[in-house]
Amino acid sequence: MRFITAIATVLAAANSVAAIGSLGFDLGAQRNSDSACKTTQDYLADFETISSQTNIVRVYAASDCGTLENILPAIQQSGFKLFIGIWPNDDAHYAAEIAALNAYLPTIDASSIVAVTVGSEALYRGDMSPSALADKINEVRGIVHGMDGFEGVPVGTVDSWNIIVDGASAPVIQASDLVISNAFSYWQGQTMANSSYSFLDDIMQSLQTIQTAKGSTDIDFWIGETGWPTAGGAFEASVPSVDNAALFWQQSICGIRAWGINTLVFEAYDESWKPPTSGISGVETHWGVWTNPGTDPKYSLDCNF
Ligand SMILES: *[C@@H]1O[C@H](CO)[C@@H](O)[C@H](O)[C@H]1NC(C)=O
Repeated sequence: MRFITAIATVLAAANSVAAIGSLGFDLGAQRNSDSACKTTQDYLADFETISSQTNIVRVYAASDCGTLENILPAIQQSGFKLFIGIWPNDDAHYAAEIAALNAYLPTIDASSIVAVTVGSEALYRGDMSPSALADKINEVRGIVHGMDGFEGVPVGTVDSWNIIVDGASAPVIQASDLVISNAFSYWQGQTMANSSYSFLDDIMQSLQTIQTAKGSTDIDFWIGETGWPTAGGAFEASVPSVDNAALFWQQSICGIRAWGINTLVFEAYDESWKPPTSGISGVETHWGVWTNPGTDPKYSLDCNF
């Protein structure tokens, strides 16, 4: 019942936007597989491989590993478009993020920036309260919109779908031009057979919550992270494999884009430097759609639109 209502809501939203949702890729933690910080050349190599699918990517930070300093020249050269993340805590990290934003954002054309987001699952992890995060979103909007030409760049946040649906997130939704929702059927321990149902249900609920809070179906909306690991240990009923990742791509990612929902996929490349999640063997290093830049995708990314 809840699902049917939500589908009707998204239909109303989808009818007013492009028929097929856009595709983008999360770039991970600004590090190469050997954990060295990515250079501008590394980002250009990343983009060359991704360009077979899209020209939209997302990074999680402005200052870590010199993110903006190194990626913006590659964005400029390649014509790619970027989601920029800002870590809102701790205070020293936030200050470094703002310093990088001030130093480097004005060096690029505002049309290259899809959005600036403050916090990546900050509420999910309990890093800060909704009202404290809302204050940071408003502060960052003031900084971004104070830059010449950047007045129209959306500033918002990214969080897990269940946190968005939870009423406590209301101040954050109100403070955001754009609320981005993450949903992983894998981390919900879903069977393959139920993974696309669960994914669509999660996303529709978060979209409906945002639309209700905003009092409009005419809003920008993106999924910030979704995907399926190709190797590593099972989580409850969820089993990593190339075949399952390919099926999740077809049923869930192609499926939801066909409904008109913009989707960022987690993630472009395996992050082999990452430490293991406790209790689950090796899954964190196998979320890439590609193993490395310059390789073929691990499975077919064609959608039958
Ligand atoms: C399928 O997913 C939905 C939504 O997450 C959940 O409510 C339901 O219990 C799941 N069904 C099965 C059989 O796992």
